[in-house]
Order: sequence, then structure tokens, then C-alpha cells
Amino acid sequence: MFNHVIVKKPSKSYVNGLTTSSLGVPNYEELLLQHEKYVSALKYCGVEVIYLEADEAFPDSTFVEDAAVLTKEFAVITNPGAPSRNGEIVAIEKAVQPFYKKIHHIVAPGFLDGGDVLQVDRIFYIGLSERTNEAGAKQLKKMVEAEKYTAHIIPLKEFFHLKTGIASVGKNKLVVTGEFITNPLFESYEKIIIPKEQQYSANCILVNDYVIIPAGFEETNQQLKSQGYQTIELEMSEFQKQDGGLSCLSLRF
Ligand code: GLY
Repeated sequence: MFNHVIVKKPSKSYVNGLTTSSLGVPNYEELLLQHEKYVSALKYCGVEVIYLEADEAFPDSTFVEDAAVLTKEFAVITNPGAPSRNGEIVAIEKAVQPFYKKIHHIVAPGFLDGGDVLQVDRIFYIGLSERTNEAGAKQLKKMVEAEKYTAHIIPLKEFFHLKTGIASVGKNKLVVTGEFITNPLFESYEKIIIPKEQQYSANCILVNDYVIIPAGFEETNQQLKSQGYQTIELEMSEFQKQDGGLSCLSLRF
């Protein structure tokens, strides 16, 4: 159950942010509309939204998930692996502070993006990617183990971030695609398997009674509905252009 989310308005500089996609330049007006709908959907799911103003100095800072890992008991401020994004943590730590007595920090030479961290109940899965190195992953593992969680480190083969290809939707179920379909670490879960053509929709989020998914992935929508989930579909085109997904846009706690 989530009570709060942190989101951050996309800045005009967003269009100059990092991306590996060839989907074109984002349309800022359309982007703002999509972000507003995202925030409305979160409110509909029953959470209080902490809304941070845009920061032109950080084009990718609407992707707040990368700057922190939040649990019930403690927060971890990350050390984002992309130099242009590293300073995003300052605003996020300020936003997180009122809610947490215990705040840990990932520090250099460790780097870690929150997009590489999946929590399923008391277990953390930490991806090693271009943004998260072994030192960062080991720091997080040690921190969460000290808090009586378990953690597994997973080198990524094809995905940008761990959560590009996997999501937890409760009830011991994972939405998985690509390299995670056959990874033995996840064999004890029931899997909702997303085919390659629908891969973008594996980045979905369970927020209380709803699974929010990107619009235009009917097979994923039907799979979730047939398993008893209520879904909310959101247009995500302008975020996808900058390698962003639904989970990247909020910190849920
Ligand atoms: N554009 C999001 C990122 O590269 O981190």
C-alpha cells in the first residue's frame, strides 16, 4: 500500500536530455499533458502527491525514481551514474527528508540509479547496468541486508535499467520480458510474460488497487485484466522518446 508519491514537473530542457532512442524530439506541450495525466492517475489510486517544480538545470530530473530508493523504514539517496543527472539527488533528498528518520547514501566509487532496483516484499533485486556499478550495487545490498532485507545483484544483458524489463504487481506475480523470462532468480514467482513487440509495457506500476500501464499495449492490458487486475492506461510517447517509463516518473512510498 502506498500513501505518497514524489513527482517532478518536466523542465523545458527535457528535450535536450539523455536518450538512446530514435523516436524523435519530444513535444513539450504534449509531454506536460501526459505528465498531468500521470499525476491525476496517481491521485485516483489514492496517494498524496508531492509535486516538485521543474528544474531547468537537470533535463532528466522528471525521472525522479533514479535518485532514491524508498522503503517503509528507510530511504536511500542514490548516486546516479550519468554525470548530467548526479545533482538531481539534492532536490530529492530535500523532498524525502520530512518522511524519513533514517536516510542512507550511495557514495563514489559506487554509482546506482533507482531504476535498477526492484523491491518485492523483503527482497531487493539490483541490476548492474551502465548506470549502476558493482560498488554501488554492493553498497545497497549491504544497507538493505543490515535492515533485514535480502538482496540479489543481477548483471543486465540487454536492458537499460533493471525495471525496463520487470515489474512486481503483488500476489507473488511479476511482469517480465526479455532476459528476465528465464532468469532462475525469478523462478518462484508467477510470471506475466510480455512478448518482445510489447516490451515497453513491462515497465508498469502497481499503485494500490490499480496497475498503471502504457497505452497501446492491448495484449498486456488483457493479460493483466484476465488475472483480475484493474488497469489504467496512460499515453507515454513523449517519455518513451527519452528512454523513460511509468516507474521512472515517481517515487512511491
Ligand atoms: N533519459 C533518462 C536517462 O537517460 O536517464
